[in-house]
Amino acid sequence: MERLDKFLCDSGVGTRSQVKAILKSGRVTVDGKPEKDNSRKIDPQTQTICLDGEPMGGRRRVVVMLNKPSGFVTATEDPVERTVMELLPPEMKHLDLKPVGRLDKATEGLLLFTNDGDLLHRLISPKKEVPKVYYARHEGTAGVEDIQAFGEGLTLRDGTVCLPAKLEPLGEGESLITVCEGKYHQVRRMMASRNMTVLYLERRREGNLELGGLPRGQVRELTAAEIEGLEA
Ligand code: URA
Repeated sequence: MERLDKFLCDSGVGTRSQVKAILKSGRVTVDGKPEKDNSRKIDPQTQTICLDGEPMGGRRRVVVMLNKPSGFVTATEDPVERTVMELLPPEMKHLDLKPVGRLDKATEGLLLFTNDGDLLHRLISPKKEVPKVYYARHEGTAGVEDIQAFGEGLTLRDGTVCLPAKLEPLGEGESLITVCEGKYHQVRRMMASRNMTVLYLERRREGNLELGGLPRGQVRELTAAEIEGLEA
């Protein structure tokens, strides 16, 4: 048995205060009867809880996109550094979201979060090979031989062999890099292996998802269609 308000919060209906208001407005029923008491004890296994007439099937799955600013580490907690969790708005704090993969402290751009452990593991699995597109400003300028080396699969300075990747020079000291794996500091190390030290890095795309016009430091929830596309 658990409290009705906690069950609704954990299901992603809203924050504690939003849930209180929803209950007060009579939109929730327990086994068909309207229930306004937020401390009411319920058993989600045996009782049917409805919001606006729709049965609640347990915790709502949420996937969120953040446009990460530099200066935050990708971790759920850290004794010293500020973490990306601090960038989630208060109404998302109760959803138990975890970052999908990681961006370095200095890297900006597209970072996903989800509360669906299975989806999280599928997305970071090396078997899934979701293409990720990065914009880099770097020392030097990418040439034909660099493009070819990326395409063949680079060997990093420490001997690590990378999967074939795409390097598209945009001009002097600027490139787009597409990789299908997520090794530690991968793009920075790939570029360094070709003597093009990365000065700035931003992830712009992951699979079918694009940062688009999402402002830096802001989050938005993915639509059901976007989540479906991620899983395809
Ligand atoms: N590659 C990097 O080097 N850093 C990132 O944050 C992401 C990819």
